[in-house]
Amino acid sequence: MSVLSGKKILLGISSGIAAYKAPIIVRLLKSQAAEVKIVMTPSAKDFVTPLTLSTLSNHPVYSTFTEQLHNNPVWNDHVALGKWADLFLIAPATSNTISAMVHAKCNNLLIATYLSCTCPVYIAPAMDLDMYAHPANQQNIKELNRIGKKVLPVGEGFLASGLHGKGRMLEPEEIIHHISEDLKLELPLHGKKVLVTAGPTYEPIDPVRFIGNHSSGKMGFALAEEALRLGAQVTLISGPAVLEASPDIDRHNVVTAQDMYVLALEHFTHADIVIAAAAVADFKPRQVGKQKIKKEGGIQSIELDSTRDILAQMGQLKQKQFLVGFALETEDEQSNAIKKIKSKNLDAIVLNSLNDPDAGFSVDSNKVTYIDKNETTIPFELKSKILVAKDIFSQILIQNA
Ligand code: CTP
Repeated sequence: MSVLSGKKILLGISSGIAAYKAPIIVRLLKSQAAEVKIVMTPSAKDFVTPLTLSTLSNHPVYSTFTEQLHNNPVWNDHVALGKWADLFLIAPATSNTISAMVHAKCNNLLIATYLSCTCPVYIAPAMDLDMYAHPANQQNIKELNRIGKKVLPVGEGFLASGLHGKGRMLEPEEIIHHISEDLKLELPLHGKKVLVTAGPTYEPIDPVRFIGNHSSGKMGFALAEEALRLGAQVTLISGPAVLEASPDIDRHNVVTAQDMYVLALEHFTHADIVIAAAAVADFKPRQVGKQKIKKEGGIQSIELDSTRDILAQMGQLKQKQFLVGFALETEDEQSNAIKKIKSKNLDAIVLNSLNDPDAGFSVDSNKVTYIDKNETTIPFELKSKILVAKDIFSQILIQNA
Protein backbone atom coordinates (compact mmCIF):
# COMPACT_ATOMS: atom_id res chain seq x y z
CA MET A 1 0.00 0.00 0.00
CA SER A 2 1.29 3.45 -0.91
CA VAL A 3 2.26 5.91 1.77
CA LEU A 4 0.11 8.42 -0.14
CA SER A 5 -2.99 6.32 0.27
CA GLY A 6 -5.78 8.33 1.89
CA LYS A 7 -3.69 11.51 2.00
CA LYS A 8 -5.44 14.77 1.10
CA ILE A 9 -3.17 16.54 -1.32
CA LEU A 10 -3.73 20.05 -2.56
CA LEU A 11 -2.00 20.72 -5.86
CA GLY A 12 -1.18 24.33 -6.64
CA ILE A 13 -0.45 25.08 -10.29
CA SER A 14 1.16 28.32 -11.33
CA SER A 15 1.61 29.70 -14.77
CA GLY A 16 4.57 28.03 -16.42
CA ILE A 17 4.86 25.71 -19.40
CA ALA A 18 5.51 22.76 -17.04
CA ALA A 19 1.84 23.12 -16.00
CA TYR A 20 1.10 20.77 -18.90
CA LYS A 21 2.49 17.99 -16.68
CA ALA A 22 0.09 18.77 -13.81
CA PRO A 23 -2.55 16.27 -15.04
CA ILE A 24 0.10 13.54 -14.84
CA ILE A 25 0.81 14.51 -11.23
CA VAL A 26 -2.90 14.24 -10.49
CA ARG A 27 -3.10 10.84 -12.17
CA LEU A 28 -0.12 9.51 -10.24
CA LEU A 29 -1.46 10.75 -6.91
CA LYS A 30 -4.91 9.32 -7.62
CA SER A 31 -3.43 6.00 -8.69
CA GLN A 32 -1.87 5.80 -5.24
CA ALA A 33 -5.27 6.39 -3.63
CA ALA A 34 -4.59 10.00 -2.60
CA GLU A 35 -7.42 12.53 -2.69
CA VAL A 36 -6.50 15.55 -4.79
CA LYS A 37 -7.89 19.07 -4.95
CA ILE A 38 -6.50 21.77 -7.17
CA VAL A 39 -5.95 25.49 -6.87
CA MET A 40 -4.42 27.26 -9.86
CA THR A 41 -3.45 30.81 -10.72
CA PRO A 42 -5.79 32.39 -13.30
CA SER A 43 -3.05 32.53 -15.93
CA ALA A 44 -2.12 28.84 -15.41
CA LYS A 45 -5.42 28.13 -17.22
CA ASP A 46 -3.66 29.16 -20.43
CA PHE A 47 -1.43 26.10 -20.09
CA VAL A 48 -3.80 23.46 -18.76
CA THR A 49 -7.57 23.49 -18.59
CA PRO A 50 -9.58 23.33 -15.36
CA LEU A 51 -11.85 20.82 -17.10
CA THR A 52 -8.98 18.34 -17.54
CA LEU A 53 -7.93 18.81 -13.94
CA SER A 54 -11.41 18.61 -12.42
CA THR A 55 -12.14 15.48 -14.45
CA LEU A 56 -8.97 13.80 -13.24
CA SER A 57 -9.26 14.92 -9.63
CA ASN A 58 -13.05 14.49 -9.32
CA HIS A 59 -13.20 17.87 -7.60
CA PRO A 60 -13.90 21.40 -8.77
CA VAL A 61 -10.79 23.41 -9.57
CA TYR A 62 -10.36 26.73 -7.76
CA SER A 63 -8.63 29.73 -9.28
CA THR A 64 -10.43 32.91 -8.17
CA PHE A 65 -11.49 34.34 -4.82
CA THR A 66 -15.13 34.34 -5.93
CA GLU A 67 -17.08 32.79 -8.76
CA GLN A 68 -20.62 32.79 -10.10
CA LEU A 69 -22.90 29.97 -9.10
CA HIS A 70 -26.56 30.18 -10.27
CA ASN A 71 -26.03 33.91 -10.94
CA ASN A 72 -24.75 34.51 -7.42
CA PRO A 73 -21.18 35.16 -6.43
CA VAL A 74 -19.73 32.51 -4.10
CA TRP A 75 -16.55 32.72 -2.13
CA ASN A 76 -13.85 30.12 -2.71
CA ASP A 77 -12.72 29.69 0.86
CA HIS A 78 -8.92 29.54 0.72
CA VAL A 79 -8.76 29.00 4.48
CA ALA A 80 -10.90 25.86 4.33
CA LEU A 81 -8.89 24.64 1.33
CA GLY A 82 -5.63 25.11 3.20
CA LYS A 83 -6.99 23.39 6.32
CA TRP A 84 -8.36 20.51 4.24
CA ALA A 85 -4.92 19.55 2.94
CA ASP A 86 -2.49 17.11 4.57
CA LEU A 87 0.09 18.35 2.12
CA PHE A 88 0.29 21.24 -0.34
CA LEU A 89 2.33 20.65 -3.49
CA ILE A 90 2.97 23.65 -5.72
CA ALA A 91 4.04 22.37 -9.12
CA PRO A 92 5.09 24.12 -11.21
CA ALA A 93 6.18 27.00 -9.00
CA THR A 94 7.19 29.92 -11.17
CA SER A 95 9.55 32.73 -10.22
CA ASN A 96 6.52 34.99 -9.69
CA THR A 97 4.77 32.50 -7.40
CA ILE A 98 7.92 31.76 -5.39
CA SER A 99 8.50 35.47 -4.92
CA ALA A 100 4.90 36.04 -3.85
CA MET A 101 5.19 33.17 -1.35
CA VAL A 102 8.31 34.68 0.21
CA HIS A 103 6.84 38.18 0.43
CA ALA A 104 3.26 37.18 1.33
CA LYS A 105 2.05 39.01 -1.79
CA CYS A 106 -1.46 37.73 -1.69
CA ASN A 107 -2.59 38.55 -5.22
CA ASN A 108 -4.28 35.28 -6.14
CA LEU A 109 -6.13 32.37 -4.55
CA LEU A 110 -3.10 30.06 -4.70
CA ILE A 111 -0.99 32.43 -2.61
CA ALA A 112 -3.87 33.14 -0.22
CA THR A 113 -4.25 29.37 0.28
CA TYR A 114 -0.50 28.95 0.76
CA LEU A 115 -0.48 31.69 3.41
CA SER A 116 -3.43 30.12 5.22
CA CYS A 117 -2.36 26.50 5.22
CA THR A 118 -0.45 24.90 8.09
CA CYS A 119 0.39 21.57 6.46
CA PRO A 120 3.79 20.68 4.93
CA VAL A 121 4.39 22.51 1.64
CA TYR A 122 6.37 21.10 -1.27
CA ILE A 123 7.48 23.40 -4.05
CA ALA A 124 8.64 22.22 -7.48
CA PRO A 125 10.28 25.22 -9.18
CA ALA A 126 10.19 25.52 -12.96
CA MET A 127 12.09 28.27 -14.76
CA ASP A 128 14.50 28.95 -17.51
CA LEU A 129 18.11 28.34 -16.54
CA ASP A 130 19.21 31.96 -16.06
CA MET A 131 16.04 32.81 -14.17
CA TYR A 132 16.57 29.86 -11.88
CA ALA A 133 20.22 30.80 -11.35
CA HIS A 134 19.39 34.45 -10.69
CA PRO A 135 20.46 35.46 -7.17
CA ALA A 136 16.97 36.85 -6.46
CA ASN A 137 15.36 33.47 -7.13
CA GLN A 138 18.10 31.57 -5.34
CA GLN A 139 17.64 33.87 -2.36
CA ASN A 140 13.88 33.28 -2.36
CA ILE A 141 14.35 29.51 -2.56
CA LYS A 142 16.80 29.68 0.33
CA GLU A 143 14.28 31.67 2.34
CA LEU A 144 11.48 29.16 1.69
CA ASN A 145 13.79 26.33 2.78
CA ARG A 146 14.76 28.34 5.88
CA ILE A 147 11.15 28.64 7.01
CA GLY A 148 10.64 24.90 6.61
CA LYS A 149 9.08 24.62 3.17
CA LYS A 150 10.43 21.82 1.01
CA VAL A 151 11.79 23.23 -2.20
CA LEU A 152 12.50 20.32 -4.53
CA PRO A 153 15.50 20.37 -6.82
CA VAL A 154 15.04 21.16 -10.50
CA GLY A 155 15.82 18.91 -13.42
CA GLU A 156 18.46 19.60 -16.00
CA GLY A 157 17.91 19.35 -19.75
CA PHE A 158 16.04 20.84 -22.66
CA LEU A 159 14.08 23.97 -21.70
CA ALA A 160 11.11 25.61 -23.41
CA SER A 161 13.37 28.50 -24.45
CA GLY A 162 15.45 26.08 -26.49
CA LEU A 163 18.31 26.44 -24.04
CA HIS A 164 19.78 23.51 -22.17
CA GLY A 165 20.45 23.54 -18.46
CA LYS A 166 19.05 23.55 -14.93
CA GLY A 167 15.52 24.81 -14.34
CA ARG A 168 13.09 22.16 -15.59
CA MET A 169 10.40 21.08 -13.16
CA LEU A 170 11.18 17.61 -11.83
CA GLU A 171 9.28 14.90 -13.67
CA PRO A 172 5.94 14.02 -12.00
CA GLU A 173 7.29 10.58 -10.98
CA GLU A 174 10.31 12.21 -9.33
CA ILE A 175 8.13 14.69 -7.45
CA ILE A 176 5.92 11.89 -6.13
CA HIS A 177 9.01 9.86 -5.21
CA HIS A 178 10.47 12.75 -3.17
CA ILE A 179 7.23 13.26 -1.29
CA SER A 180 6.71 9.52 -0.67
CA GLU A 181 10.24 9.06 0.67
CA ASP A 182 9.74 11.98 3.07
CA LEU A 183 6.41 10.62 4.25
CA LYS A 184 7.99 7.22 4.89
CA LEU A 185 10.45 8.82 7.32
CA GLU A 186 7.52 9.98 9.44
CA LEU A 187 5.92 6.55 9.75
CA PRO A 188 6.00 5.17 13.30
CA LEU A 189 7.79 1.94 12.36
CA HIS A 190 10.23 3.50 9.91
CA GLY A 191 13.63 1.84 10.33
CA LYS A 192 12.16 -1.04 12.36
CA LYS A 193 12.26 -4.68 11.36
CA VAL A 194 9.13 -6.67 12.04
CA LEU A 195 8.99 -10.46 11.89
CA VAL A 196 5.62 -12.21 11.68
CA THR A 197 4.92 -15.94 11.68
CA ALA A 198 1.60 -16.94 10.15
CA GLY A 199 -0.57 -19.81 9.03
CA PRO A 200 -0.57 -23.46 10.05
CA THR A 201 2.25 -25.94 9.83
CA TYR A 202 1.79 -29.35 8.26
CA GLU A 203 3.55 -32.32 9.83
CA PRO A 204 3.80 -35.20 7.35
CA ILE A 205 2.59 -38.69 8.16
CA ASP A 206 3.53 -40.01 4.72
CA PRO A 207 3.95 -38.36 1.29
CA VAL A 208 0.18 -37.82 1.08
CA ARG A 209 -1.10 -37.15 4.58
CA PHE A 210 -0.24 -34.72 7.30
CA ILE A 211 -1.27 -33.42 10.71
CA GLY A 212 -2.39 -29.81 10.39
CA ASN A 213 -4.93 -27.35 11.64
CA HIS A 214 -7.55 -24.93 10.37
CA SER A 215 -5.43 -21.77 10.45
CA SER A 216 -5.82 -19.76 7.22
CA GLY A 217 -2.99 -17.32 7.96
CA LYS A 218 -5.33 -14.33 7.55
CA MET A 219 -4.51 -12.80 10.95
CA GLY A 220 -0.75 -13.07 10.45
CA PHE A 221 -0.93 -11.70 6.91
CA ALA A 222 -3.06 -8.76 8.11
CA LEU A 223 -0.43 -8.04 10.78
CA ALA A 224 2.37 -8.15 8.21
CA GLU A 225 0.46 -5.72 5.94
CA GLU A 226 -0.22 -3.36 8.84
CA ALA A 227 3.45 -3.39 9.85
CA LEU A 228 4.33 -2.50 6.26
CA ARG A 229 1.79 0.32 6.23
CA LEU A 230 3.37 1.67 9.41
CA GLY A 231 6.72 1.82 7.63
CA ALA A 232 8.47 -1.31 8.89
CA GLN A 233 10.67 -3.65 6.93
CA VAL A 234 8.61 -6.82 7.17
CA THR A 235 9.54 -10.48 7.06
CA LEU A 236 6.65 -12.93 6.95
CA ILE A 237 7.25 -16.62 7.54
CA SER A 238 4.15 -18.47 6.53
CA GLY A 239 3.03 -22.05 6.72
CA PRO A 240 0.82 -23.36 3.88
CA ALA A 241 -1.66 -20.56 3.10
CA VAL A 242 -3.42 -19.53 -0.09
CA LEU A 243 -2.97 -15.82 0.54
CA GLU A 244 -1.18 -13.07 -1.35
CA ALA A 245 1.19 -10.75 0.47
CA SER A 246 2.27 -7.35 -0.75
CA PRO A 247 5.42 -7.58 -2.90
CA ASP A 248 7.21 -5.28 -0.43
CA ILE A 249 6.95 -7.97 2.24
CA ASP A 250 9.85 -10.40 2.45
CA ARG A 251 7.77 -13.57 2.45
CA HIS A 252 9.11 -17.07 3.11
CA ASN A 253 6.97 -20.15 2.74
CA VAL A 254 7.52 -23.14 4.98
CA VAL A 255 5.64 -26.37 5.59
CA THR A 256 6.69 -27.93 8.89
CA ALA A 257 7.19 -26.55 12.40
CA GLN A 258 10.87 -27.44 12.10
CA ASP A 259 11.23 -25.39 8.85
CA MET A 260 9.47 -22.46 10.55
CA TYR A 261 11.69 -22.80 13.61
CA VAL A 262 14.91 -22.63 11.58
CA LEU A 263 13.85 -19.68 9.45
CA ALA A 264 12.18 -17.73 12.27
CA LEU A 265 15.24 -17.97 14.50
CA GLU A 266 17.47 -16.90 11.63
CA HIS A 267 15.43 -13.69 11.18
CA PHE A 268 14.80 -13.19 14.89
CA THR A 269 18.32 -11.87 15.58
CA HIS A 270 17.78 -8.75 13.44
CA ALA A 271 14.13 -8.14 14.32
CA ASP A 272 12.86 -5.31 16.53
CA ILE A 273 9.29 -6.55 16.84
CA VAL A 274 8.23 -10.19 16.51
CA ILE A 275 4.66 -11.41 16.33
CA ALA A 276 4.09 -15.14 16.44
CA ALA A 277 0.67 -15.50 14.87
CA ALA A 278 1.31 -18.94 13.41
CA ALA A 279 -0.70 -21.90 14.60
CA VAL A 280 2.32 -24.14 14.89
CA ALA A 281 1.61 -27.85 15.26
CA ASP A 282 2.60 -28.99 18.73
CA PHE A 283 3.18 -32.58 17.64
CA LYS A 284 4.66 -34.36 14.66
CA PRO A 285 4.66 -38.03 13.70
CA ARG A 286 7.77 -39.82 14.98
CA GLN A 287 8.07 -41.84 11.79
CA VAL A 288 7.25 -40.39 8.37
CA GLY A 289 6.28 -43.08 5.88
CA LYS A 290 8.48 -42.97 2.80
CA GLN A 291 5.59 -44.38 0.75
CA LYS A 292 1.87 -43.86 1.11
CA ILE A 293 0.60 -46.02 3.98
CA LYS A 294 -1.85 -48.50 2.43
CA LYS A 295 -5.13 -49.14 4.18
CA GLU A 296 -4.84 -52.92 3.79
CA GLY A 297 -1.95 -53.03 6.24
CA GLY A 298 -4.03 -51.02 8.70
CA ILE A 299 -2.73 -48.41 11.08
CA GLN A 300 -3.63 -48.54 14.75
CA SER A 301 -1.86 -45.46 16.02
CA ILE A 302 0.62 -42.74 15.12
CA GLU A 303 3.41 -42.11 17.55
CA LEU A 304 4.02 -38.42 18.06
CA ASP A 305 6.94 -36.26 19.15
CA SER A 306 6.67 -32.67 20.32
CA THR A 307 7.74 -29.99 17.91
CA ARG A 308 10.06 -27.27 19.11
CA ASP A 309 8.34 -24.19 20.53
CA ILE A 310 9.53 -21.35 18.32
CA LEU A 311 8.14 -18.56 20.46
CA ALA A 312 9.49 -19.99 23.72
CA GLN A 313 12.93 -20.26 22.16
CA MET A 314 12.73 -16.65 20.95
CA GLY A 315 11.70 -15.65 24.49
CA GLN A 316 14.88 -17.25 25.82
CA LEU A 317 17.10 -15.57 23.25
CA LYS A 318 15.34 -12.21 23.53
CA GLN A 319 17.49 -9.09 23.81
CA LYS A 320 16.12 -5.89 22.25
CA GLN A 321 13.17 -7.63 20.58
CA PHE A 322 9.59 -6.83 21.50
CA LEU A 323 7.92 -10.21 21.51
CA VAL A 324 4.20 -10.77 20.99
CA GLY A 325 2.57 -14.18 21.05
CA PHE A 326 -0.92 -15.41 20.35
CA ALA A 327 -2.88 -17.64 22.67
CA LEU A 328 -5.64 -19.80 21.39
CA GLU A 329 -7.68 -20.92 24.36
CA THR A 330 -11.02 -22.58 24.83
CA GLU A 331 -11.16 -22.48 28.66
CA ASP A 332 -9.67 -20.30 31.45
CA GLU A 333 -8.73 -18.06 28.58
CA GLN A 334 -7.24 -15.10 30.40
CA SER A 335 -5.25 -16.96 33.02
CA ASN A 336 -3.88 -19.39 30.44
CA ALA A 337 -2.84 -16.48 28.23
CA ILE A 338 -1.09 -14.74 31.14
CA LYS A 339 0.74 -17.99 31.96
CA LYS A 340 2.07 -18.00 28.40
CA ILE A 341 3.39 -14.42 28.77
CA LYS A 342 5.48 -15.63 31.69
CA SER A 343 6.50 -19.08 30.43
CA LYS A 344 7.56 -17.75 27.02
CA ASN A 345 9.03 -14.44 28.28
CA LEU A 346 6.73 -12.27 26.14
CA ASP A 347 6.06 -8.53 26.15
CA ALA A 348 2.41 -9.11 25.26
CA ILE A 349 -0.01 -11.75 24.14
CA VAL A 350 -3.06 -11.60 21.93
CA LEU A 351 -5.78 -13.82 23.25
CA ASN A 352 -7.90 -15.34 20.55
CA SER A 353 -11.20 -16.68 21.63
CA LEU A 354 -12.72 -19.56 19.74
CA ASN A 355 -15.95 -19.14 21.69
CA ASP A 356 -17.28 -16.50 19.30
CA PRO A 357 -18.67 -18.06 16.09
CA ASP A 358 -17.29 -15.25 13.88
CA ALA A 359 -13.83 -15.23 15.41
CA GLY A 360 -10.80 -17.45 14.97
CA PHE A 361 -9.71 -19.73 12.16
CA SER A 362 -10.54 -19.21 8.48
CA VAL A 363 -13.07 -16.40 8.93
CA ASP A 364 -12.24 -12.78 8.03
CA SER A 365 -13.12 -11.42 11.47
CA ASN A 366 -11.62 -11.91 14.89
CA LYS A 367 -12.22 -10.96 18.49
CA VAL A 368 -9.10 -10.54 20.53
CA THR A 369 -7.89 -9.31 23.89
CA TYR A 370 -4.48 -7.69 24.11
CA ILE A 371 -2.68 -8.41 27.39
CA ASP A 372 0.68 -6.82 28.13
CA LYS A 373 3.32 -8.23 30.46
CA ASN A 374 1.97 -6.13 33.34
CA GLU A 375 -1.31 -7.95 32.77
CA THR A 376 -3.08 -4.82 31.54
CA THR A 377 -5.93 -6.28 29.57
CA ILE A 378 -7.57 -4.55 26.61
CA PRO A 379 -10.52 -6.37 25.08
CA PHE A 380 -11.51 -5.45 21.52
CA GLU A 381 -14.82 -5.90 19.73
CA LEU A 382 -15.38 -8.42 16.99
CA LYS A 383 -14.06 -6.85 13.78
CA SER A 384 -12.28 -7.64 10.54
CA LYS A 385 -8.78 -9.09 10.89
CA ILE A 386 -7.46 -6.01 9.07
CA LEU A 387 -8.86 -3.80 11.84
CA VAL A 388 -7.73 -6.22 14.54
CA ALA A 389 -4.19 -5.89 13.15
CA LYS A 390 -4.49 -2.09 13.55
CA ASP A 391 -5.66 -2.51 17.16
CA ILE A 392 -2.76 -4.83 17.94
CA PHE A 393 -0.19 -2.43 16.46
CA SER A 394 -1.75 0.54 18.23
CA GLN A 395 -1.01 -1.26 21.51
CA ILE A 396 2.47 -2.32 20.42
CA LEU A 397 3.24 1.32 19.55
CA ILE A 398 1.97 2.52 22.94
CA GLN A 399 4.15 -0.04 24.73
CA ASN A 400 7.14 0.91 22.59
CA ALA A 401 6.66 4.66 22.87
N1 CTP B 1 4.05 -21.35 19.17
C1 CTP B 1 5.28 -21.49 18.58
N2 CTP B 1 5.80 -22.73 18.37
C2 CTP B 1 5.13 -23.82 18.76
C3 CTP B 1 3.86 -23.69 19.37
C4 CTP B 1 3.34 -22.44 19.57
O1 CTP B 1 5.89 -20.49 18.21
N3 CTP B 1 5.66 -25.02 18.54
C5 CTP B 1 3.53 -20.01 19.42
C6 CTP B 1 2.28 -19.64 18.63
O2 CTP B 1 2.63 -19.05 17.38
C7 CTP B 1 1.59 -18.67 19.55
C8 CTP B 1 2.01 -19.13 20.95
O3 CTP B 1 3.14 -19.94 20.76
O4 CTP B 1 2.06 -17.36 19.40
C9 CTP B 1 0.97 -19.89 21.72
O5 CTP B 1 0.45 -20.92 20.92
P1 CTP B 1 -0.75 -21.82 21.48
O6 CTP B 1 -1.06 -22.88 20.46
O7 CTP B 1 -1.87 -20.97 21.98
O8 CTP B 1 -0.13 -22.46 22.75
P2 CTP B 1 0.93 -23.57 22.97
O9 CTP B 1 2.17 -22.96 23.49
O10 CTP B 1 1.07 -24.42 21.74
O11 CTP B 1 0.28 -24.39 24.17
P3 CTP B 1 -1.17 -25.13 24.22
O12 CTP B 1 -1.42 -25.64 22.84
O13 CTP B 1 -0.96 -26.18 25.23
O14 CTP B 1 -2.16 -24.09 24.67
